[in-house]
Amino acid sequence: MRAWPVVPITCAFLLGSCGNETDRAAEIDALPHFAHQNGRHAFLVDGEPFLILGAQANNSSNYPAALDDVWPAIEQLHANTLEIPVAWEQTEPAEGQFDFSYVDELVRQARERSIRLILLWFATWKNTSPHYAPSWVKLNNERFPRIIREDGGIHYALSPHFQETLEADSRAFRELMRHLRDIDGDRQTVIAVQVENEPGVYGSVRDYSPTANTLFAGAVPDELIEALGARPGTWTEAFGEDADEFFHAWHTAKFIGAVAAAGREEYPLPMYANAALRDPVGYQDPMTYASGGPTWNVIEVYKVAAPVLSVLAPDVYSRDYRTAIAHFGRYNREDNPLMVVEIGNAAEFARFFFHVFGNNGVGFSPFGMDFTGYSNYPLGARVVNEQTIQPFAVLYEAFAPIARDWARISLEKRTWGVAKPDDNSVQTLALGRWQATVRYDQWQFGGSDWTWMQRDPSPNLERESGGAMIAELDEDEYLVFAQNARVEFALRDPTAADGVIFDRVEEGRFRAGEWVMDRVWNGDQTDYGLNFTARPRILRVKLATY
Ligand code: DGJ
Repeated sequence: MRAWPVVPITCAFLLGSCGNETDRAAEIDALPHFAHQNGRHAFLVDGEPFLILGAQANNSSNYPAALDDVWPAIEQLHANTLEIPVAWEQTEPAEGQFDFSYVDELVRQARERSIRLILLWFATWKNTSPHYAPSWVKLNNERFPRIIREDGGIHYALSPHFQETLEADSRAFRELMRHLRDIDGDRQTVIAVQVENEPGVYGSVRDYSPTANTLFAGAVPDELIEALGARPGTWTEAFGEDADEFFHAWHTAKFIGAVAAAGREEYPLPMYANAALRDPVGYQDPMTYASGGPTWNVIEVYKVAAPVLSVLAPDVYSRDYRTAIAHFGRYNREDNPLMVVEIGNAAEFARFFFHVFGNNGVGFSPFGMDFTGYSNYPLGARVVNEQTIQPFAVLYEAFAPIARDWARISLEKRTWGVAKPDDNSVQTLALGRWQATVRYDQWQFGGSDWTWMQRDPSPNLERESGGAMIAELDEDEYLVFAQNARVEFALRDPTAADGVIFDRVEEGRFRAGEWVMDRVWNGDQTDYGLNFTARPRILRVKLATY
């Protein structure tokens, strides 16, 4: 069984109050948190960079009775982190009466398996609706008003504009975080918390209640005007046709930020919000997506309104290669680490592992990975069984021995990553003085230019997964992790030398931060590029010229 070190938390926040700001900052540093360096990011857990090789359970797996069907999937997957909901309806079924027995049991069972947890706080908004709020909230429109549509009708989603809703959600979240601090503050089984789930509203761009309309007619806060370089004035004056959406995003983000801040006062774990995505390239009418959620066009609004959120994270369900890559690009920013907290669990999503971690991503979590019998096809796989898990498991298992080293290198140095494209086209990566070419149309031996021998098309062409990740270790030295692909190296300037040669290609892994070689690749294994099969490998490649 794997174990992680116990990080002693001595600060007074375990007792409910921190001394001064310096103490507080030191204690936050001792907990999981994000680090940033030259526009690159790392998620630190136990004081060291960590990659979330994650999985998210189905929505209704948040009860002890379901956990027996969750762990076997997590273990088969070789995941290190389980993302799983904690619902407001289950922790505060009656107002002011809290029940954290599920959280206690979940944390206990996760510890037994040395699996880290990310808790998903399903409360005011779950896929924009209040379904996970307790009955005393979701059935009381007077106290907890719903959004009013432009035509005056009552909409399904709760409005972000009402203090009583914010206070009730914050109070419940604060209780959760206080409890978590009490049971887990010294161990950090739970490493992060998602606040709400896919917030926003479908089918109305904002709330048109009298309260909302009064706010909408007022001036845009200076900090937002300044950050976005907008014209001071009302929302319409500042943002024109985006005014309704920006207004709703600002107030939704403020609400989520306030809930997160209340929780962090008790126990400052990193917190984030996730997004139901909008078209990553073209225009999309905000009536057709979750308006007010952290879609890419309002990331700046969220950053100003809710700086307490460490990450805005995309939920990626596009199987189409170009669309998925565009979504990742929207959330991979200097001010926002790429953390894919949900991705489809069908086989063709596994390849995006290479793109995410190769491009400094900190987390990857296929959704619906448990054996409760539910499948969210067509978003994900048709059924969830051992075969569904395999394409992801083979990557997690092979990568786990170097995941933390990769995370460390990824913060300090350059990395690259490509997923197998739908059309199997050749991908070229400019690495420095070298370039790498990644192809999916080759066997392991020879080349397709060998016209004198007949050969069938490469089996890689038919495979759903595949890709390559490369990390720079030194000027002529790279770490390569790949699957179902041929990786070739060449000088970017071919005239810079007479020829290029592999000085050495070692297959191996890191142990305690030190490279350990298992064997050297040479002869057939390097004469035709580095050919990776369905079983991914880790290579340390030293290039040379003559
Ligand atoms: C995205 C949501 O965040 C998840 O909770 C879930 O509803 C999936 N969509 C669909 O299965």
